[in-house]
Amino acid sequence: MHISTSFVFGVAAFSAAVNAVLTRVNDFGSNPTNLQMNINVPAKLADKPAIILALHLCAGTGELYALLTKYNALSEEKGFITIFPSSKKDLNCWEVNTAKGLSRDAGGDNQGLVNMIKYTIQKYNADPTKVFVTGSSSGCMMTNVLMATYPDVFAASTCYSGVAAGCLAGSPGASPISSDPRCANGQIIKTQAEWVAQAKAMYPGYNGPYPRMLTWHGTADLLVKPPNLGEQLKQWSGMHGVEFSKNVTNTPQSGYTQIVYGDGSKLMGYIAEGVGHTVPVHEAEDLKWFGL
Ligand SMILES: *[C@@H]1O[C@H](CO)[C@@H](O)[C@H](O)[C@H]1NC(C)=O
Repeated sequence: MHISTSFVFGVAAFSAAVNAVLTRVNDFGSNPTNLQMNINVPAKLADKPAIILALHLCAGTGELYALLTKYNALSEEKGFITIFPSSKKDLNCWEVNTAKGLSRDAGGDNQGLVNMIKYTIQKYNADPTKVFVTGSSSGCMMTNVLMATYPDVFAASTCYSGVAAGCLAGSPGASPISSDPRCANGQIIKTQAEWVAQAKAMYPGYNGPYPRMLTWHGTADLLVKPPNLGEQLKQWSGMHGVEFSKNVTNTPQSGYTQIVYGDGSKLMGYIAEGVGHTVPVHEAEDLKWFGL
């Protein structure tokens, strides 16, 4: 969740260049928490393009996350659209703690984010069956929340160094300084039945499928501690009704272990030995997971 101040200021020098490829969209629909919408549409847009919603870390912005990741360059090859929204409150963290933020259509950040997607589907004739979400740290926490609150919007997700949906429920904030520290410290441990009940209660009565998920974490993460990977996998294996099947070492690279559930089509984790906060974004693996 932390990015050093000098790093943020250093990056500001590049923001003009990034702004050139991100377009600010103002009237995308109801925006109850005043989020900023930034979009990248490649020169060679695919027919019925896919959409990736890419969510920044705390203290970040959409522009910064565009700079830190390779989605824009990759979209020129693959023709998908990337939305890089910005949160402007609570140290620019995403709202993953409040009752409204953990509900559907209740006025949280999640509702504004989904309205950005609806706008983009309509404006660019995008494929509603190819909408994906990814993010790092706070962005991974919001990925988990979007999967639970808007499972019908997203086909798949990937995310880095986050927590299960509802881990911060009831916390006074969602930033490293405003939040109840027990979640990030890996002290919110629940049974699978409890995590599943909590996620299902975020969209009561829904009986359809949930997004496929690939979630990454480092063993040396001191900010969002590694038990949070196990809790996410516990939650989403329960949601998908799949069980742990095997670990595959040194995949996709040395020191990373792939944790496979079921046949590996619905849920996988990666635990990165000695990697801290956050695990570097692996765009190629993520695009493979999305089928792009
Ligand atoms: C698979 O890897 C996870 C994460 O490191 C670990 O907790 C689990 O014990 C491993 N399971 C087996 C059967 O090796």
